[in-house]
Amino acid sequence: MRPAAYQVMALDATRRGELNSCLNASAGAASRSRERETHMTMVREIHLKSRPSGLPTADNFEIAHVELPAPAPGQVQVRNLWMTVDPYMRGRMNDVKSYAPPFQLGRAMDGGAIGEVTVSNDPAFKAGDLVQSGFGWREGFNAPAGALQKLDPRGLPVQAFLGAAGMPGLTAYAGLLKIAALKDGDVVFVSGAAGAVGAMVCQIAKAKGHTVIGSAGGAEKVAWLKSIGVDEVIDYKAEPDLNAALAAAAPGGIDVYFDNVGGAHLEAALNSAKLFARFAICGMISIYNAIRREPGPSNLAQIIGKNIRMEGFIVSHHFSMMPQFIADLSQWVAEGKVTWKETVFEGIDQAPEAFIGLFKGENMGKMLVKLT
Ligand SMILES: NC(=O)c1ccc[n+]([C@@H]2O[C@H](COP(=O)([O-])OP(=O)(O)OC[C@H]3O[C@@H](n4cnc5c(N)ncnc54)[C@H](OP(=O)(O)O)[C@@H]3O)[C@@H](O)[C@H]2O)c1
Repeated sequence: MRPAAYQVMALDATRRGELNSCLNASAGAASRSRERETHMTMVREIHLKSRPSGLPTADNFEIAHVELPAPAPGQVQVRNLWMTVDPYMRGRMNDVKSYAPPFQLGRAMDGGAIGEVTVSNDPAFKAGDLVQSGFGWREGFNAPAGALQKLDPRGLPVQAFLGAAGMPGLTAYAGLLKIAALKDGDVVFVSGAAGAVGAMVCQIAKAKGHTVIGSAGGAEKVAWLKSIGVDEVIDYKAEPDLNAALAAAAPGGIDVYFDNVGGAHLEAALNSAKLFARFAICGMISIYNAIRREPGPSNLAQIIGKNIRMEGFIVSHHFSMMPQFIADLSQWVAEGKVTWKETVFEGIDQAPEAFIGLFKGENMGKMLVKLT
């Protein structure tokens, strides 16, 4: 049963009228909000209350009410409109050193957000400017101007820059084109195929003319992936034997595996890999909540005989590809080759549920929290 705040917003960019009416609605809302009294003093933030063992629960989070003073010289006050929840944040709930620092107990969590400047004490910004920041998990904040990036929505709804046109989209693009070094004729297998990254991987590969096999949990996700052109879709939750299902979907084997999941999916991909296959290891969400470390894939030795190249990557090392990605994305959207979905929870108090929902498969496309 879906929570009351759950809604799926389909953004079919091939339907120009729908996209335009979305844009007009968002522009209208922005101008109305500028007409309102914008100075904000009290905001709510989500703090990390305790570190989870296994799947996080609502008890690991708490809401704090914080009074924002007027921004100091060189600072800007922002009201967040949207924030993202992402699987990598699960690692940040542990007190371990990693590529992203751990969240601190009793302090606000952070992550990507899109907001609107309400008060500026710096000449680089003015009230009403749209900004991207790393100050998610809160309704508003004061920050130095240098910590904010002005957002030009380029005709897209602003929240797209947390999903298809943002970090997850670039992850798909860099992982597929650079890490997996996609080449003509490749058969591509994607796990987590109906998620923010996975759905973009599927569509980029299709836009480039490849045969694509996706794996996702549940009939609704399978139907969506088929509707956007994925050639074969495995409902891994309904499949008693993932190895057999992948072998049947790709009888000649796979050339590229884009891994979002790890575990049994990685094993199946190794079994179906052709000679000289390339594996882009993007994420392993199936083990993020594991309490004990389990041994790796039992068939890993296949990388030797099959000459497989397996490479992990973190998108932040590939931000230089962003301009090329945005240029390609614009063309694919205009040609009707790429579309996306969003799963939206409303209100800062729903952010923990949205985050936990990632590990229960509650999202199709990008999981987002709408804050105003
Ligand atoms: N390397 C990087 O720089 C980078 C950047 C962004 C994301 N990532 C990684 O990419 C992956 C996808 O991220 P995303 O933001 O696009 O998330 P997402 O796919 O939109 O959301 C998570 C999805 O994972 C699936 N899932 C959850 N638990 C699972 C399990 N035990 N086994 C199999 N599938 C499970 C669920 O879909 P189903 O219903 O299909 O199970 C869920 O909807 C994650 O592993 C993430 O850590 C890596």
